[in-house]
Amino acid sequence: MANIELERLHVRIARSGLCSRRTAEKLILEGRVQVNGETVIEMGIKVGEDDSVAVDGNILSIAKKYVLLLNKPAGVLTTLSDPQGRPTIVQFLPNYGVQLKPVGRLDKDTEGLLMITNDGDIALRMAHPRYGLDKEYQAIVEGIPDEKALDRLRRGVMIEGGKTQPAKVEVVFVEERKGTTSLRITIHEGKKRQVRLMCEAIGHPVIRLTRVRIGPYHLRGLRPGECKLLSQTDVAKLRKLLGMESS
Ligand code: URA
Repeated sequence: MANIELERLHVRIARSGLCSRRTAEKLILEGRVQVNGETVIEMGIKVGEDDSVAVDGNILSIAKKYVLLLNKPAGVLTTLSDPQGRPTIVQFLPNYGVQLKPVGRLDKDTEGLLMITNDGDIALRMAHPRYGLDKEYQAIVEGIPDEKALDRLRRGVMIEGGKTQPAKVEVVFVEERKGTTSLRITIHEGKKRQVRLMCEAIGHPVIRLTRVRIGPYHLRGLRPGECKLLSQTDVAKLRKLLGMESS
Protein backbone atom coordinates (compact mmCIF):
# COMPACT_ATOMS: atom_id res chain seq x y z
CA MET A 1 0.00 0.00 0.00
CA ALA A 2 1.35 3.47 -0.79
CA ASN A 3 2.59 4.95 2.47
CA ILE A 4 1.60 8.39 1.32
CA GLU A 5 -2.02 7.56 2.14
CA LEU A 6 -1.18 6.72 5.73
CA GLU A 7 -0.75 9.16 8.56
CA ARG A 8 0.21 8.86 12.18
CA LEU A 9 -2.66 8.31 14.53
CA HIS A 10 -2.15 11.46 16.59
CA VAL A 11 -2.00 13.52 13.36
CA ARG A 12 -5.30 12.03 12.22
CA ILE A 13 -6.95 12.84 15.57
CA ALA A 14 -5.67 16.42 15.41
CA ARG A 15 -6.83 16.71 11.79
CA SER A 16 -10.35 15.90 12.92
CA GLY A 17 -10.25 19.25 14.73
CA LEU A 18 -10.81 17.62 18.15
CA CYS A 19 -7.55 18.78 19.74
CA SER A 20 -3.89 19.50 19.15
CA ARG A 21 -1.38 16.82 18.15
CA ARG A 22 0.15 16.92 21.60
CA THR A 23 -3.21 16.37 23.31
CA ALA A 24 -3.93 13.57 20.84
CA GLU A 25 -0.71 11.84 21.93
CA LYS A 26 -1.87 12.04 25.55
CA LEU A 27 -5.27 10.58 24.62
CA ILE A 28 -3.52 7.64 22.96
CA LEU A 29 -1.28 7.02 25.99
CA GLU A 30 -4.32 7.21 28.27
CA GLY A 31 -5.92 4.36 26.29
CA ARG A 32 -8.84 6.49 25.13
CA VAL A 33 -8.32 5.95 21.39
CA GLN A 34 -9.72 3.10 19.31
CA VAL A 35 -8.79 2.15 15.75
CA ASN A 36 -11.36 -0.06 14.04
CA GLY A 37 -12.85 -0.78 17.44
CA GLU A 38 -9.55 -1.82 19.09
CA THR A 39 -7.92 0.31 21.77
CA VAL A 40 -4.47 1.47 20.70
CA ILE A 41 -1.81 2.75 23.07
CA GLU A 42 1.21 2.61 20.77
CA MET A 43 2.44 5.98 19.58
CA GLY A 44 3.89 5.21 16.15
CA ILE A 45 0.88 3.52 14.58
CA LYS A 46 -0.32 4.77 11.17
CA VAL A 47 -3.86 4.80 9.84
CA GLY A 48 -5.44 5.23 6.43
CA GLU A 49 -8.58 7.10 5.38
CA ASP A 50 -10.59 3.86 5.59
CA ASP A 51 -9.64 3.14 9.21
CA SER A 52 -12.20 4.21 11.73
CA VAL A 53 -10.69 6.24 14.57
CA ALA A 54 -12.62 6.91 17.77
CA VAL A 55 -11.94 8.71 21.03
CA ASP A 56 -13.82 7.40 24.06
CA GLY A 57 -15.92 5.38 21.62
CA ASN A 58 -16.97 8.40 19.51
CA ILE A 59 -15.96 8.01 15.89
CA LEU A 60 -14.11 11.03 14.53
CA SER A 61 -14.91 12.49 11.17
CA ILE A 62 -12.30 14.48 9.30
CA ALA A 63 -13.19 18.10 9.78
CA LYS A 64 -13.51 20.25 6.71
CA LYS A 65 -10.65 22.72 6.42
CA TYR A 66 -11.49 26.39 6.63
CA VAL A 67 -9.27 29.37 5.97
CA LEU A 68 -10.65 32.80 6.76
CA LEU A 69 -9.37 36.32 6.46
CA LEU A 70 -10.31 38.74 9.22
CA ASN A 71 -9.88 42.49 9.33
CA LYS A 72 -8.88 42.76 12.97
CA PRO A 73 -9.80 46.11 14.46
CA ALA A 74 -7.34 47.93 16.73
CA GLY A 75 -7.89 47.32 20.44
CA VAL A 76 -8.76 43.63 19.99
CA LEU A 77 -6.50 40.80 21.17
CA THR A 78 -5.34 38.09 18.75
CA THR A 79 -6.41 35.33 21.07
CA LEU A 80 -9.49 33.19 21.61
CA SER A 81 -10.03 34.08 25.25
CA ASP A 82 -8.61 36.56 27.70
CA PRO A 83 -8.54 36.00 31.47
CA GLN A 84 -8.97 39.77 31.95
CA GLY A 85 -12.09 39.84 29.79
CA ARG A 86 -10.66 42.18 27.15
CA PRO A 87 -12.15 42.00 23.62
CA THR A 88 -10.71 39.19 21.50
CA ILE A 89 -11.06 38.14 17.86
CA VAL A 90 -13.47 35.38 18.88
CA GLN A 91 -16.42 37.77 18.61
CA PHE A 92 -15.82 38.05 14.85
CA LEU A 93 -15.43 34.34 14.05
CA PRO A 94 -18.22 32.19 12.63
CA ASN A 95 -19.13 28.99 14.45
CA TYR A 96 -18.32 26.12 12.12
CA GLY A 97 -18.11 23.63 15.01
CA VAL A 98 -14.33 23.32 14.56
CA GLN A 99 -11.38 24.80 16.40
CA LEU A 100 -10.44 27.91 14.43
CA LYS A 101 -7.14 29.53 15.39
CA PRO A 102 -5.28 32.65 14.27
CA VAL A 103 -2.14 32.15 12.19
CA GLY A 104 0.50 34.27 13.88
CA ARG A 105 -0.64 37.41 15.62
CA LEU A 106 -1.17 41.11 15.36
CA ASP A 107 -0.53 43.33 18.39
CA LYS A 108 -3.58 44.60 20.21
CA ASP A 109 -3.15 48.05 18.68
CA THR A 110 -2.36 46.81 15.19
CA GLU A 111 -5.25 46.42 12.79
CA GLY A 112 -5.66 44.64 9.50
CA LEU A 113 -5.40 41.26 7.89
CA LEU A 114 -5.25 38.16 10.04
CA MET A 115 -5.52 34.62 8.72
CA ILE A 116 -7.62 32.15 10.71
CA THR A 117 -7.77 28.41 10.11
CA ASN A 118 -8.45 24.98 11.58
CA ASP A 119 -5.80 23.49 9.27
CA GLY A 120 -2.76 22.92 11.46
CA ASP A 121 -0.53 22.11 8.48
CA ILE A 122 -1.30 25.40 6.76
CA ALA A 123 -0.70 27.26 10.05
CA LEU A 124 2.67 25.53 10.51
CA ARG A 125 3.85 26.30 6.98
CA MET A 126 2.72 29.91 7.26
CA ALA A 127 4.90 30.31 10.35
CA HIS A 128 7.93 28.72 8.67
CA PRO A 129 10.38 31.29 7.23
CA ARG A 130 10.99 29.05 4.20
CA TYR A 131 7.34 28.94 3.16
CA GLY A 132 5.84 31.93 4.99
CA LEU A 133 4.32 34.59 2.79
CA ASP A 134 5.30 38.26 2.53
CA LYS A 135 3.42 40.61 4.79
CA GLU A 136 2.79 44.19 3.82
CA TYR A 137 2.06 46.93 6.36
CA GLN A 138 0.97 50.51 6.16
CA ALA A 139 2.74 52.33 8.97
CA ILE A 140 1.98 55.93 9.82
CA VAL A 141 5.05 57.16 11.64
CA GLU A 142 6.03 60.28 13.51
CA GLY A 143 8.16 62.72 11.55
CA ILE A 144 9.56 62.50 8.05
CA PRO A 145 12.27 59.84 7.71
CA ASP A 146 15.08 60.78 5.30
CA GLU A 147 16.49 58.40 2.66
CA LYS A 148 19.32 57.37 5.00
CA ALA A 149 16.84 56.25 7.67
CA LEU A 150 14.70 54.45 5.07
CA ASP A 151 17.79 52.67 3.75
CA ARG A 152 18.57 51.44 7.25
CA LEU A 153 15.09 49.94 7.41
CA ARG A 154 15.63 48.36 3.99
CA ARG A 155 18.98 46.82 4.89
CA GLY A 156 17.95 45.66 8.38
CA VAL A 157 18.13 47.20 11.84
CA MET A 158 18.92 45.78 15.26
CA ILE A 159 15.83 45.17 17.35
CA GLU A 160 15.04 42.88 20.28
CA GLY A 161 15.44 39.42 18.83
CA GLY A 162 18.26 40.31 16.42
CA LYS A 163 18.85 42.10 13.12
CA THR A 164 15.90 42.28 10.78
CA GLN A 165 16.18 40.86 7.27
CA PRO A 166 16.04 43.16 4.24
CA ALA A 167 12.66 44.82 3.87
CA LYS A 168 10.91 46.66 1.07
CA VAL A 169 10.14 50.20 2.21
CA GLU A 170 8.34 52.91 0.25
CA VAL A 171 7.00 56.30 1.19
CA VAL A 172 3.29 56.48 0.35
CA PHE A 173 2.69 60.08 1.41
CA VAL A 174 4.01 62.75 3.73
CA GLU A 175 1.62 64.87 5.80
CA GLU A 176 3.80 67.96 6.21
CA ARG A 177 1.16 69.76 8.27
CA LYS A 178 0.83 66.93 10.81
CA GLY A 179 4.51 66.00 10.62
CA THR A 180 3.77 62.35 9.83
CA THR A 181 4.67 59.92 7.05
CA SER A 182 2.83 56.93 5.70
CA LEU A 183 5.21 54.09 4.83
CA ARG A 184 4.55 50.80 3.05
CA ILE A 185 6.78 48.16 4.61
CA THR A 186 6.98 44.59 3.32
CA ILE A 187 8.68 41.93 5.42
CA HIS A 188 9.01 38.18 5.22
CA GLU A 189 9.69 37.35 8.85
CA GLY A 190 7.51 37.94 11.88
CA LYS A 191 9.47 38.90 14.96
CA LYS A 192 7.43 40.18 17.87
CA ARG A 193 6.32 43.80 17.31
CA GLN A 194 8.72 43.85 14.38
CA VAL A 195 7.45 46.81 12.39
CA ARG A 196 6.97 48.99 15.48
CA LEU A 197 10.48 48.16 16.71
CA MET A 198 11.99 48.75 13.26
CA CYS A 199 10.45 52.20 13.03
CA GLU A 200 11.45 53.00 16.59
CA ALA A 201 15.03 51.95 15.75
CA ILE A 202 15.26 54.69 13.11
CA GLY A 203 13.71 57.27 15.45
CA HIS A 204 10.25 57.41 13.84
CA PRO A 205 7.78 55.62 16.13
CA VAL A 206 4.59 54.17 14.69
CA ILE A 207 1.35 56.05 15.28
CA ARG A 208 -0.90 53.62 13.42
CA LEU A 209 -0.14 50.21 11.97
CA THR A 210 -2.26 48.21 9.54
CA ARG A 211 -1.41 44.91 7.86
CA VAL A 212 -2.75 45.33 4.34
CA ARG A 213 -1.57 42.13 2.66
CA ILE A 214 -0.47 38.56 3.40
CA GLY A 215 0.96 36.94 0.26
CA PRO A 216 -1.77 37.16 -2.39
CA TYR A 217 -4.50 38.25 0.05
CA HIS A 218 -5.42 41.91 0.39
CA LEU A 219 -7.32 43.73 3.09
CA ARG A 220 -9.27 45.63 0.43
CA GLY A 221 -13.03 45.27 0.73
CA LEU A 222 -13.02 43.88 4.28
CA ARG A 223 -14.56 46.19 6.87
CA PRO A 224 -13.10 46.19 10.42
CA GLY A 225 -14.38 43.08 12.20
CA GLU A 226 -15.45 41.46 8.93
CA CYS A 227 -14.41 37.89 8.08
CA LYS A 228 -14.18 36.32 4.63
CA LEU A 229 -14.08 32.58 4.01
CA LEU A 230 -11.64 31.45 1.31
CA SER A 231 -13.21 29.15 -1.27
CA GLN A 232 -11.93 25.57 -1.49
CA THR A 233 -10.24 26.57 -4.77
CA ASP A 234 -8.42 29.38 -2.97
CA VAL A 235 -7.41 26.99 -0.17
CA ALA A 236 -6.00 24.59 -2.77
CA LYS A 237 -4.03 27.49 -4.30
CA LEU A 238 -2.75 28.48 -0.86
CA ARG A 239 -1.60 24.92 -0.15
CA LYS A 240 0.27 24.95 -3.44
CA LEU A 241 1.90 28.29 -2.60
CA LEU A 242 3.06 26.81 0.69
CA GLY A 243 4.60 23.83 -1.08
CA MET A 244 1.93 21.36 0.09
CA GLU A 245 0.22 18.92 -2.17
CA SER A 246 -3.44 19.80 -2.71
CA SER A 247 -6.00 17.79 -0.79
N1 URA B 1 4.69 44.32 13.47
C1 URA B 1 4.29 44.92 14.60
O1 URA B 1 4.99 45.74 15.17
N2 URA B 1 3.09 44.59 15.09
C2 URA B 1 2.28 43.69 14.52
O2 URA B 1 1.20 43.42 15.03
C3 URA B 1 2.71 43.08 13.34
C4 URA B 1 3.94 43.42 12.83
